[in-house]
Amino acid sequence: MTSDAAASPSSRAARVKLAPSLLSCDFTQLGAELNRIVTADYVHVDVMDGLFVPNISFGFPILAAARRASPLFMDVHLMIERPERYLREFAEAGADGMTVHVEATPHIHRAVGMIHELGKRAGVSLNPGTPLEAVRPVLSDVDLVLVMSVNPGFGGQKFIPQSVERIRTVRRWLDELGSAAELEVDGGVTPQNARLLADAGATVLVAGSSVFGPQGPEVGLARLREALA
Ligand code: DX5
Ligand code: ZN
Repeated sequence: MTSDAAASPSSRAARVKLAPSLLSCDFTQLGAELNRIVTADYVHVDVMDGLFVPNISFGFPILAAARRASPLFMDVHLMIERPERYLREFAEAGADGMTVHVEATPHIHRAVGMIHELGKRAGVSLNPGTPLEAVRPVLSDVDLVLVMSVNPGFGGQKFIPQSVERIRTVRRWLDELGSAAELEVDGGVTPQNARLLADAGATVLVAGSSVFGPQGPEVGLARLREALA
């Protein structure tokens, strides 16, 4: 059992990482928005190709600009078909970690290996409708597992409640392996459910609309931290 697994639920919650999603920020103010989230842990960068998900977001130039504007870990979530085609470019544009979907490639093991060969942290993700078993073959190879708690493609959607049990299951599998991989949850995360997710075993919370809301990102981040204290 890792020391994390042995820690009390409250001390674990206090150590949970926050990953604001740039998708919800004001792109006319990208540098300023990044300056306002320097107390976060990761910058979550959602790349969408209009094929894997029914939406197109942004690609290399925005990631490169964010990289220049922020010292934080760039956590790049690739919602694109056959992501292995573009891993090198995302690494060169400034990704620190890249997360690929099990549904997006028949070669998930190869994609994870390629991310490591590029010297980056490798994550694997699955959609709410995908059996959890799909990640098991690569679980001991990855640095992060991203459990989607909405159907990917858009910010501001409602959290799917069954995701909590899915997080608990992946938590148990990681603990059984003695894995120190991060367990990230993405979609509909708010101050109302943050504590529940941390207690279920999530170690990274992605939050778009609840950080970059009308109250401003400083307040959005503070509310999430308070919920985890
Ligand atoms: C959804 C993206 C999320 C999104 C989260 O496809 O992967 O990262 O930005 O947004 P909220 O927190 O608003 O659900
Ligand atoms: Zn995301």
